[in-house]
Amino acid sequence: MLVEEAEFGSETYGEMLVLRKRILRDPLGLEWTAEEEAWESRERHFAMKVDNGIVACVVIRPLGNGAVKLRQMAVEPEQQGAGVGRRLLGGVEKILITDEVDRIELNARDAAVGFYERLGFRKVGEEFMEVTIPHWKMVKALR
Ligand SMILES: CC(C)(COP(=O)(O)OP(=O)(O)OC[C@H]1O[C@@H](n2cnc3c(N)ncnc32)[C@H](O)[C@@H]1OP(=O)(O)O)[C@@H](O)C(=O)NCCC(=O)NCCS
Repeated sequence: MLVEEAEFGSETYGEMLVLRKRILRDPLGLEWTAEEEAWESRERHFAMKVDNGIVACVVIRPLGNGAVKLRQMAVEPEQQGAGVGRRLLGGVEKILITDEVDRIELNARDAAVGFYERLGFRKVGEEFMEVTIPHWKMVKALR
């Protein structure tokens, strides 16, 4: 399994969209918003690849001042709980550190907070609602 950065519009990017839709959108009956689509070409897209395709992905949005927002983290359901998410984020963090990023922010679904805590993120502020489910803002300092 390898972490691969995919170019916006590439074949791998297309596979990531399919995975993101199936895992993050369809269960909530969500569609892409125009605002979100407008961002995609300016974001970085990372996938965990195996021989027959991708099993996980994540999107990184530059925020300026050494900070990024991590979003759209998804692992193939059959592979969840097997360390894939940890390996993907570990690989992405190494790349971000090389690029002098020093802070990752994200909005975690309540059910995923424990995962991010295991990886060194901490909650900040109060719970809030987003896409109909409770979320927490979380941050991690990289350097
Ligand atoms: C949340 C998600 C990304 C985690 O990826 P994963 O590959 O299943 O997680 P890993 O197997 O790498 O787990 C890493 C660690 O976090 C823990 N963990 C994983 N999911 C967890 C969860 N939902 N709650 C609490 N702890 C969790 C694991 O036990 C493991 O701990 P350890 O290594 O210290 O023993 C994945 O389960 C997923 O795609 N879920 C559905 C979509 C989603 O909720 N995305 C996040 C939106 S904010």
